[in-house]
Amino acid sequence: MVTLKPTNIHNSSLHPSATEISPNQQILPLSVQVDPAGQMKIGGCFAAELVQQYGSPLYIIDELTLRTACQQYHQSFQRFYPGSSQVLYASKAWSCLAVCALVAHEGLGLDVVSGGELYTALQAGVNPQKIYFHGNNKSVAELEMALSCGCAIIADNWLELKQIVGLLPSNEALTVPPRVMLRITPGIECHTHEYIRTGHLDSKFGFDPNQIDQVLSFAQQHPQIAWIGFHAHIGSQIFELQPHADLTSVIVGWLVKANSLGLSMNELNIGGGLGIRYVESDDPPSIAQWSETVCNGIIQACQAAALPLPKLLCEPGRSIIGPACITAYKVGAKKDIPNIRTYLSVDGGMSDNPRPITYQSIYSTAIANRMEAPATEIVTIAGKHCESGDILLKDVALPPSQTGDILVVMGTGAYNYSMASNYNRIPRPAAVLVHDGEANLILKRETNQDLIRQDCLPRHLEPR
Ligand code: LLP
Repeated sequence: MVTLKPTNIHNSSLHPSATEISPNQQILPLSVQVDPAGQMKIGGCFAAELVQQYGSPLYIIDELTLRTACQQYHQSFQRFYPGSSQVLYASKAWSCLAVCALVAHEGLGLDVVSGGELYTALQAGVNPQKIYFHGNNKSVAELEMALSCGCAIIADNWLELKQIVGLLPSNEALTVPPRVMLRITPGIECHTHEYIRTGHLDSKFGFDPNQIDQVLSFAQQHPQIAWIGFHAHIGSQIFELQPHADLTSVIVGWLVKANSLGLSMNELNIGGGLGIRYVESDDPPSIAQWSETVCNGIIQACQAAALPLPKLLCEPGRSIIGPACITAYKVGAKKDIPNIRTYLSVDGGMSDNPRPITYQSIYSTAIANRMEAPATEIVTIAGKHCESGDILLKDVALPPSQTGDILVVMGTGAYNYSMASNYNRIPRPAAVLVHDGEANLILKRETNQDLIRQDCLPRHLEPR
């Protein structure tokens, strides 16, 4: 095996396969190697062979990277926080049975935001005691589901509080008081894409911090509920540590207030948000640095307030699953517009990765079967959807490629599959989990039959 040369990978960095490396600072999954013939291997499997066997586009998840990220969060919290702690995986980043089960095996709990994510987590065998249910507009059916399985509910607004109280008498499965955490908008700005900021005051999420007195008074009046603590989340793909440091003193302040009112709350959840390296110029802090920052912040704020250390939770999504996955496509048509641009079309696009068209997100790419060839062409990678904006990467340097080559896009684990669609009635890709030369199918490729499975044809429209 040879190491990758930077020139061969658009905007990418290289790393040895050491697991102390923070996966979120790497563009390539940790197990990636290149053989002397220039073929990319991931999890000990040749990317091109995986495509041959499972088809394309194909999500390929490197188990080593995924487990390493889980372990680094878990170990960092053990190391930097002397009180009790629990890392939750924000399953909105990628929810399916295998991913939920794997993170749970690594000791993580789960953040879910819908009945569907909760169902998936429970079916994957995740302990409901370690599941926290989010959402700014949970349905009554979702609240009932949460109450019956015994997961914690992160209450977001007044309607929800009233609905929870209203549901209690009718819920026979309830033998212990439901655990409810309060989500408050922290009012902290951070530099990230406008659509993914949630912590500033103008946000649909959480209680307005100016209403905290009323919320706590409601809690005092309802002792039939176990009010466990507070939650705040400031945004996603954040590279600065300061906003999270600031958040720790804000959230501890709420706990001080609750305790002074005689509410014995004991959990603080500081959300997720640590960014990942999509391209070389991205420079996120490591998982350990981020964890140390929030743990120290909570410890110091509690010391200053003479408060015993609460149970500390966090809920990263992107930095756990994002760097673990690459998407493999087959190169198809090439369109060369002299002096303007060369388009290279692949067999997927905005339906399997809606992030470039939604957020103008940028990624790194390589040709998996020509890793040693010099990147001498500037091309634009186009998806196959009927939409001019369906461009995965604009003007990237790649080795000259041919129809049938395998193009891989790195860092596609988070918010790709989970936001995938069937636009243009394109079936969603398959996903494999790879490790030590073994590939396990974790999502079957959708078929055309799947696409019409829920369609109903009224009688008068049936073919004659
Ligand atoms: N907790 C809460 C309450 C959240 O809203 C989120 C993300 C997380 C945790 C996990 O954040 P992470 O560690 O993944 O940054 N679709 C967008 C990202 C939306 C993030 C939504 N909330 C994207 O593709 O960039």
